[in-house]
Amino acid sequence: MTTTFNRKNPCTAKLKQADLLTAGCTEKDTWHYEISLEGSGLEFLPGDSLALFSHNSPALADEILVALGFTGDEEVEDPDGATTDIRTALIETFAITAPDKKFLAAVNDKTSATTAFGDLLTPDRKKELAEWSWGREIIDVLLEYPDAKFTPEEFVGVLRKLQVRLYSIASSLKAHPDEVHLTVATVAYESFGRKRQGVCSTWLAERIDSETPLRCFITPGKGFRPPEPADATPIIMCGPGTGIAPFRAFLQERRATSAKGKAWLFFGEIHEATCFFYKHEWEQYLADGTLEKLTTAWSRDQQEKVYIQHKILEHAEELWQWLEQGAIFYICGDASRMAPDVDKALHTVVETAGGKSPEEAAAYIEQMHKDKRYRRDIY
Ligand SMILES: Cc1cc2nc3c(=O)[nH]c(=O)nc-3n(C[C@H](O)[C@H](O)[C@H](O)COP(=O)(O)OP(=O)(O)OC[C@H]3O[C@@H](n4cnc5c(N)ncnc54)[C@H](O)[C@@H]3O)c2cc1C
Ligand SMILES: NC(=O)c1ccc[n+]([C@@H]2O[C@H](COP(=O)([O-])OP(=O)(O)OC[C@H]3O[C@@H](n4cnc5c(N)ncnc54)[C@H](OP(=O)(O)O)[C@@H]3O)[C@@H](O)[C@H]2O)c1
Repeated sequence: MTTTFNRKNPCTAKLKQADLLTAGCTEKDTWHYEISLEGSGLEFLPGDSLALFSHNSPALADEILVALGFTGDEEVEDPDGATTDIRTALIETFAITAPDKKFLAAVNDKTSATTAFGDLLTPDRKKELAEWSWGREIIDVLLEYPDAKFTPEEFVGVLRKLQVRLYSIASSLKAHPDEVHLTVATVAYESFGRKRQGVCSTWLAERIDSETPLRCFITPGKGFRPPEPADATPIIMCGPGTGIAPFRAFLQERRATSAKGKAWLFFGEIHEATCFFYKHEWEQYLADGTLEKLTTAWSRDQQEKVYIQHKILEHAEELWQWLEQGAIFYICGDASRMAPDVDKALHTVVETAGGKSPEEAAAYIEQMHKDKRYRRDIY
C-alpha cells in the first residue's frame, strides 16, 4: 500500500549526493541534489514537485535575538502548542525573513517613531506596501525601530509559520527508484547594504548533510505531464535555468518507457562552459533518440543577450511544423520575465511561420490551451 504523505504527515528522506551544476561560474550557484527515499514509500510522477521543509539561518536568528534583547533560552509556544526555546523556534518554526503586515503593524504600534510603513498598512495601499517591503527583512525593521519592545511570546505571535518550498522534481522513479533529484538555484542577493540568502535554497546548499532529516511531501503536477508512452504526440520543452528540472524527469521517464513521440528541448543559461546543466545526459539522449533536438541559448557569452525565445524565433518554420503535427508546448522556470517573453515568441512563430494575423495567432494559441497542448509550470 502507498503511504500518503502531506504537510501534516511528511516523509523523512536523506541527502545522498550534491553536485554543483555551475562549477567554475562566479555569477550563479545552482545544485543538483539526489535525495534517497529508501524505505519511505514516497512515490511521484514526472511533472510533480517536492515540497520541502527547511530551517532558517542560525546567524540571522541570533541577530534577531540580539536586536530584541533576548538570550535565546526564553520559552515560547509554537503554533502546534509545543513549548520550545525561542532560538530553536526562530530557526525551525517561524518565518523570520520577509516582514508581513501583522509584524509591521505590531512594530508600528510599539514604536514611538513615525514609521515609513505605518500609512501603508491599509488594504488600499497593498501594492505600495509590497514595494516598500521588497528587499527588506524583519531584522532591518527591528534595527530601525529599536524602541519597539516585544516579549518573546508577543514576538513569535506576530510571525508566520515557516512555509515549505516547492521544487520541480528532476528525476523519474523508473530511472532512479527510491530517489528524488532536484535542480536548485541558491538565492543570494544584496539589498539595503546587507547580504541576503534564500531560506531553503541556502539551507540545502550550506547546512545539510547525509544525516539531516529532510521532511517532504509531493505536490502533484496536475496537467504538467508528458504524454503516455504509446502516444506519438511530439513535445517541445522550454526550460531555461532551473526550469530544466521537470524535463529531465520527462526524458528519463520517456527513455525508460520507450515513449513514441519526438522531443525538442530548449535550454538556456548564462555561460555554455560553466552552466550547461546535464550536458552529457542530453548528448546521450540525442544519440539514442530520446531527444530529437536540443537548442541552447547562452545569455552572457556575448555582448548581446541571447535567450531561448531568440532561438525559438530562429527555428520558427520548424517549430511551426511541430505545432501543426500536434506538439505539446511546455514552459518551466521564471514566471516574471521568461514565461511571458517565450509566450510572445510563440505568438510570433504562429504569425510569421503560420501566416496568421495577430488575432488568428491568439486564437490558435488559445485553442492550444483548451486542448491542453500549452502547459506551464512557472514560479
Ligand atoms: C511549482 C514550483 C516549482 C519550483 N521549482 C523550482 C526548482 O526546480 N528549482 C528552484 O531552484 N526553484 C524552484 N522553485 C522556487 C522555489 O520554490 C523557491 O521559491 C526558491 O528556491 C527560493 O526559496 P528560498 O527559500 O531559497 O528563498 P526565499 O527565502 O523564499 O527568498 C526568495 C525571496 O527573496 C526575495 N528576493 C529574491 N531575489 C531578490 C532580489 N534580488 N531583491 C530583493 N528581493 C529578492 C523575493 O521576495 C523572493 O520571493 C519552484 C517554485 C514553485 C512554486
Ligand atoms: N523575478 C526576477 O526578477 C527573477 C530574476 C532572476 C531569477 N528569478 C528567479 O530565480 C530563480 C532561479 O532562477 P534560475 O537560476 O532558474 O534561472 P534564471 O535566472 O531564470 O536564468 C536562466 C537563464 O534565463 C535567462 N533569462 C533572463 N531573462 C530571460 C527572459 N526574459 N527570457 C528568457 N530567458 C531569460 C537568464 O539570462 P540572464 O540572467 O543573463 O539575463 C539565464 O540565461 C527562479 O525562481 C526565478 O524565477 C527571478
